[in-house]
Amino acid sequence: MFGKDNGGENSGESENVQSSTNAQSSNKNVWLQRGILGAILLATGIYLFQQVYVFAPDEGSLGGPVKGLTPNQLRKFYATRVVFKKEFTPEEGLGPLFNGKSCFECHGQPTERVGGEGRDVVSTGVVRIGRRIAQRPKAKQPLKDVITGLGQDDVDIMLFQGGPALERKSITSEFVNKYPPDCQIEIGSVPSGAELISLRHAPPLFGFGLIEAIPDPDIVQNVFKELKSNPQLAGRALSQIDPLTYRPRISRFGWKNQNSTLLTFTQEALNVEMGVTTFFQENEKSATGISNFPKCIYKYLPSEPNDKGHVMAQLAYHQALLAPPDRGPITEEVKRGEKVFEQLQCAVCHLPEMSTAPIVYVVDPDSPGPELKHMEIQALESKPVKAFSDFLVHQMGVKLADGLPQGGAQGGEWRTTPLWGLRFKKFLLHDGRTSDINEAILAHGGQAEQVVKNYDALPEKEKSDLLAFLKSL
Ligand code: HEC
Ligand code: HEC
Repeated sequence: MFGKDNGGENSGESENVQSSTNAQSSNKNVWLQRGILGAILLATGIYLFQQVYVFAPDEGSLGGPVKGLTPNQLRKFYATRVVFKKEFTPEEGLGPLFNGKSCFECHGQPTERVGGEGRDVVSTGVVRIGRRIAQRPKAKQPLKDVITGLGQDDVDIMLFQGGPALERKSITSEFVNKYPPDCQIEIGSVPSGAELISLRHAPPLFGFGLIEAIPDPDIVQNVFKELKSNPQLAGRALSQIDPLTYRPRISRFGWKNQNSTLLTFTQEALNVEMGVTTFFQENEKSATGISNFPKCIYKYLPSEPNDKGHVMAQLAYHQALLAPPDRGPITEEVKRGEKVFEQLQCAVCHLPEMSTAPIVYVVDPDSPGPELKHMEIQALESKPVKAFSDFLVHQMGVKLADGLPQGGAQGGEWRTTPLWGLRFKKFLLHDGRTSDINEAILAHGGQAEQVVKNYDALPEKEKSDLLAFLKSL
């Protein structure tokens, strides 16, 4: 039907020009039709292929998804990564006061790995403040004598002076020409009278879905195990009435173990770090405690809540599916170091392994919002969680105490930091004060005092084995 008679060569010169042109144009049409058909088939093919396969080159690596997700779950993972990296604008709800424009800004180290730690402590850390309540007995003694035991009733979190967490940027300080010069918002700074000032480093979030999926009773069980193996080291489980579900949950997130779920932490991070209000804290006042913004600013602010539910769900989903850090090479030295870690009883608090529940649901990022839907993620079910933490708080002594009670933890209590991914970390301890593992260990006091003395007394060889082990995490 086509092809044979279009060239002059084999059909002879007798055919007239008109018919040759006709033939050419009908050929063009046919090719065009074939092209369109081909494109449709290709698109359909790619679509069908994507239903059974999503290219995930970073599966299982830092910032990539956990292994074993379905194509649908993977697609949602990559779609929500964009939200984690997205810089919010004032029109989208950023501010009026905030600390960062995106989650990624403070959770992006090592470079470009979504969900990492803060790039440096000063700009991506958060400052918390407080002061002792003068009427309480503990206000009458020298601070250093009582700092480790300060509790909720002893401390004023200075809500109306910018506390408990300072907001160090505002839309008018960051977007200078956008707002009238006589309509400026004062940024948070340490107020006079703040006695307790705590710098908090932004931790990495890798493997957080596994941590979230540890059943509550298993964490509580750790308390009893520790009481049995060494009561001196035994930690405390903290619980929280999850503000999103009104159900009590065992806490596991935050330096002071102040949160139990990723959704709750995310909602707080959106509010406190970015000023984005959600349907849980619908207005800026309830989110920050600050109500004295200049009136003129309100006409520039978007309607509240800023997030109608989606952003919170998208971010919580993304964190839940971030792969845990894998282990580095396991040499003979590393194996010997692991034994030292156990003998010293570091492993009592830094519990090497726990396990996730047999059925795990994660918030669906495509929830209609404010209604939240959940979806089962089989890739997180009955999985080992090699986090090296018991998810309990321990009394760590004066050197580490910040005096600020939070989420049920006292001034000197901290959640055992998960040690997985230690070799990628730039800043250690809650305030990022050191990058030296030896120094971080020597800072342990309180309940860990004897363990650290034993560590210090180790022969050099065993010490270097232990460090090799820690650097393999
Ligand atoms: C200005 C920097 C900053 C921004 C922006 C920020 N974070 Fe954080 N993040 C921190 C700091 C600091 C901590 C430690 C807080 C604490 O526990 O005291 C933290 C802790 C966390 C934790 C708990 C970590 C753990 O070890 O349990 C989660 C989860 C988290 N952030 C999620 C988010 C999400 C989601 C966003 C975006 C909505 C976000 N963060 C934005 C600084 C930031
Ligand atoms: C009583 C429980 C306990 C014992 C025992 C203990 N730790 Fe810790 N460890 C903690 C807590 C709690 C923190 C968090 C302290 C902070 O940031 O202020 C921590 C923090 C660390 C850190 C810093 C991690 C980071 O990313 O910031 C390292 C490293 C560490 N521990 C190693 C060890 C080693 C090695 C031993 C044994 C010699 C040990 N720990 C014994 C509870 C313990």
